[in-house]
Amino acid sequence: MSLLEMQGITKRFHGVTALDDVNLAVQAGEIHAVVGENGAGKSTLMKVLSGVYPHGEYEGAIHFEGSERRFGGIHDSEQAGIIIIHQELALVPLLSIAENIFLGNEPTVPGTFGAVIDWFGAFARTQELLRKVGLNERPSTLITDIGVGKQQLVEIAKALSKEVKLLILDEPTASLNETDSDALLELLLGLKAQGIACILISHKLNEIAKVADTITVIRDGSTVRSFDCRQQTISEDQVIQAMVGREMADRYPKRTPQIGETVFEIARWQVHHPEHADRLLIKGVDLHARRGEIVGIAGLMGAGRTELAMSVFGRSYGRGISGEVRLHGQVVDVSTIEKAIDNGIAYVTEDRKGYGLVLDDDIQHNVTLANLAGVSSAAVIDDGREFRVATEYREKLRIRCSSVFQPVVNLSGGNQQKVVLAKWLFANPEVLILDEPTRGIDVGAKFEIYTLMAELAAAGKCVVMISSEMPELLGMCDRIYVMNEGRFVGEFTGAEASQEKIMRSIVTAGAA
Ligand SMILES: Nc1ncnc2c1ncn2[C@@H]1O[C@H](COP(=O)(O)OP(=O)(O)OP(=O)(O)O)[C@@H](O)[C@H]1O
Ligand SMILES: [Mg+2]
Repeated sequence: MSLLEMQGITKRFHGVTALDDVNLAVQAGEIHAVVGENGAGKSTLMKVLSGVYPHGEYEGAIHFEGSERRFGGIHDSEQAGIIIIHQELALVPLLSIAENIFLGNEPTVPGTFGAVIDWFGAFARTQELLRKVGLNERPSTLITDIGVGKQQLVEIAKALSKEVKLLILDEPTASLNETDSDALLELLLGLKAQGIACILISHKLNEIAKVADTITVIRDGSTVRSFDCRQQTISEDQVIQAMVGREMADRYPKRTPQIGETVFEIARWQVHHPEHADRLLIKGVDLHARRGEIVGIAGLMGAGRTELAMSVFGRSYGRGISGEVRLHGQVVDVSTIEKAIDNGIAYVTEDRKGYGLVLDDDIQHNVTLANLAGVSSAAVIDDGREFRVATEYREKLRIRCSSVFQPVVNLSGGNQQKVVLAKWLFANPEVLILDEPTRGIDVGAKFEIYTLMAELAAAGKCVVMISSEMPELLGMCDRIYVMNEGRFVGEFTGAEASQEKIMRSIVTAGAA
């Protein structure tokens, strides 16, 4: 008998069917991967399971440990031992690790005027949990002071503070580097050895291959099939084909780069930390990109790549900035975001929630936001034109939505990312800087994004891509800079670059 059986789950949002008769069976103590394209319904299915959408708001039945469950809310599913870690982490940045772990679940001791929170106990217990997940931080450390990789571990520690039988992780490694991802996967294997089952949602099929016992594929809100990885070796291609419903011959578009003169230059760029003025974060970077060229920036998390891009783009990061930005040989003013955009520079942020989107507004308005002139006549926005532009990008990027009037807040994670991208593509910049553009994007849509990058380059623009996915840098870039601790420590042409060479230049720079 299965630990969990979800039978015939159907979920609708005002007429949109997100899940249509989905079945999922998870065995005790297994790692069960759920994969599918952006908007396929993975997160929605997990929200049904965990009571975020309570019984009565979906059709079908959930059986857990042999009996039917009708969760009225997330508290009920937690009581049953089902713990979910959502796609967007939910920790409170200005509270400590211990406070986050016991938030709403604080241990108490009797006091003079009734029960009081037992912080001593909570800290001791936190210490123990942190040891279990292999996180070397103090319980009093604030969440804001640790990176996303560690935050993910805090979420798991929090799950372990409750009695967990089934742990659900929705894209836990999307913003982690390889080392942090591997540590997390190891931890899951450790939990499995203790009999804790796990549902893992991820777009990184290589990671899934490392840990999954079973893979269930969801397409367009329905279960397509399940693979048993213990019985046979399952290839990535088999999974991809089930996900996208067709065979994908190539992962990267074919290009014949036509590289021209230098268009974009960053010279002697220095940036200090926004709060600690004495800390130099970008230490004299020189970068150039030529007409028609796709330039990559590789590096580990924390190397300073995002800080570099943001400080150039309207000085949206850092202070005490010095150096020059040149376009076609002329120094340009990039001191505000408006000036940077006017000068033809665009930056697609890695953090779509924080900087990229107006969440309450619809897709159409978000797409045209950075180029209102492009949809206006005589300074009046032409609604028809705006609709046509948004519809064009919806089709080009295959944004999964009911209409372009849908608020972006309701889109799946990957589809929100596509809207951010559409906004900057429509702004038609001379230089497009992309920061982790395919994070959380499914394999099919990645190909579409790469194709658009290739089209921009072919149209004579420069594209600068920051990425932690080495294969995509190697697959797309004509030249790759390697960044480490605020400096460029290596530069390779696309032809000579390899994963090993890039890693080696990071390691040797660190040792020097
Ligand atoms: N609150 C909501 N209102 C309306 N539609 C919604 C809502 N939540 C989800 N949807 C729709 O349901 C579908 C499934 O979304 P879901 O977030 O489950 O996808 P996903 O498989 O997790 O995708 P991703 O890989 O991008 O995270 C999408 O088309 C989405 O727009
Ligand atoms: Mg999702």
